[in-house]
Amino acid sequence: MRIKYMIPIVFLVALVIIEKENRIISRVSDKLNLKQTPQTPLQAGVFSHLSLKHTFSFPTLSKDFMVMKQRLENYSEHQEVVKKVRKHVLLLATTRTGSSFVGEFFNQQGDNMFYLFEPLWHVEKMLTLDTGGTNATASAKAYRDVLQQLFLCDFSLLESFIDPLPVNHITTSLFRRESSTSLCEESVCSPVIKGIFERYRCKIRRCGPLNLTMASESCVKKDHRVIKSVRVRQLENLRPLAEDPRLDIRFIQLVRDPRAVLASRMVAFAAKYKSWKQWALGGDRPLDEDEVKKLKGNCDNIRLSAEVGLRQPPWLRSRYMLVRYEDIARFPMRKATEMFRFSGIPLTPQVKAWILKNTQVSKEISGVYSTQKNSSEQVEKWRFSLPFKIAQVVQRACGPTLKLFGYKFVSSEKMLTDKSISLIEDKVFSV
Ligand SMILES: *[C@@H]1O[C@H](CO)[C@@H](O)[C@H](O)[C@H]1NC(C)=O
Ligand SMILES: *[C@@H]1O[C@H](CO)[C@@H](O)[C@H](O)[C@H]1NC(C)=O
Ligand SMILES: *[C@@H]1O[C@H](CO)[C@@H](O)[C@H](O)[C@H]1NC(C)=O
Ligand SMILES: *[C@@H]1O[C@H](CO)[C@@H](O)[C@H](O)[C@H]1NC(C)=O
Repeated sequence: MRIKYMIPIVFLVALVIIEKENRIISRVSDKLNLKQTPQTPLQAGVFSHLSLKHTFSFPTLSKDFMVMKQRLENYSEHQEVVKKVRKHVLLLATTRTGSSFVGEFFNQQGDNMFYLFEPLWHVEKMLTLDTGGTNATASAKAYRDVLQQLFLCDFSLLESFIDPLPVNHITTSLFRRESSTSLCEESVCSPVIKGIFERYRCKIRRCGPLNLTMASESCVKKDHRVIKSVRVRQLENLRPLAEDPRLDIRFIQLVRDPRAVLASRMVAFAAKYKSWKQWALGGDRPLDEDEVKKLKGNCDNIRLSAEVGLRQPPWLRSRYMLVRYEDIARFPMRKATEMFRFSGIPLTPQVKAWILKNTQVSKEISGVYSTQKNSSEQVEKWRFSLPFKIAQVVQRACGPTLKLFGYKFVSSEKMLTDKSISLIEDKVFSV
């Protein structure tokens, strides 16, 4: 019975003692701060004129005190960092998954956002070999290092990949500059220079060549930094970014039904997919095995990244979110809210207005049917353009990917084109 009471009492006494010691130490610390200059080493003599009620040996105090002081300093430094913490978001996707659309949610966020659209385009272009591909190892490293710098508002490594090489940090050819509101705002807009051709010029205002020093200065002032990229193959390669104490990064991986992606690619890059089409329409030549291998390789990369993310290894804890494009298209406002909450970035009225305008989620706002797409309807359109034979090839090559993301297999042409059967399973990817 008694021992029950003893424990809390001993604990309390210990607390009181610790508290007293703390106060003395901090008083000593205050005095020391007044007396001690950086050049004066801590000496017993310093204590001689302090009236301390406790008796303790000086060597112990000085050591404990120094540790305590350092801890306090470390703590307040840490607090400072927490207060000023910036949000960094990497939107990871592959082509034809709606990443420009989703990136726009962030691009529209407002004055406190620094958004970059596909900066790695330059890196990929520079590292493309004569064979048309890239050395995956070399490019993965370059992508990672460039992203890391960009999140810290440093454009120097990216500059080295821009062709022609910027002069004095000025460039006329930053890929799709106009797709980043932040690169066209007043503070980053230098005067137009007559006779200089700008490949990617700002639409919201007339600007001269991009001064990357100005871009960097603007970036430093923003609380939120978001980069969209379709070029990173493996999430695992970005681990150093998650572990960089200067960054507070979140990864949002955007995925889409691989059958829909292929259907979209067949339209967007028709020439490249001519052989697929001919094969599907009953041509005599068999389907190129290398093409199927490439398709499988892409699906596997996406799935492996998602598996790493969903497994939540310590370095990724609370830093990874998986989003299906189909869910964004069907429930744009809900999914946007989730993504912004996850990112720790406020969802501003501008973002909401942009989503309403571009998805027609609300008839009240958009009034009559306009030229805007009904995104919910768009999301299933591919089912009527993709030949069943090709859907089967994708299902064979990308089976595990379809399964992981909750996309239903079709077993017949009839099922593929039956609108009453949804191919999207309800799935929550818990993180
Ligand atoms: C305080 O931080 C420094 C460097 O960041 C570290 O070397 C030191 O061990 C920390 N001290 C304590 C007591 O945590
Ligand atoms: C790819 O790049 C890495 C690192 O730069 C190099 O070690 C490797 O030999 C390259 N591989 C090929 C196939 O060129
Ligand atoms: C680019 O911007 C920086 C910072 O504002 C400025 O110092 C520099 O003169 C600018 N360069 C040119 C060529 O205008
Ligand atoms: C968009 O299309 C879907 C599917 O056809 C339909 O259910 C929905 O009502 C449409 N939304 C609007 C706002 O027209």
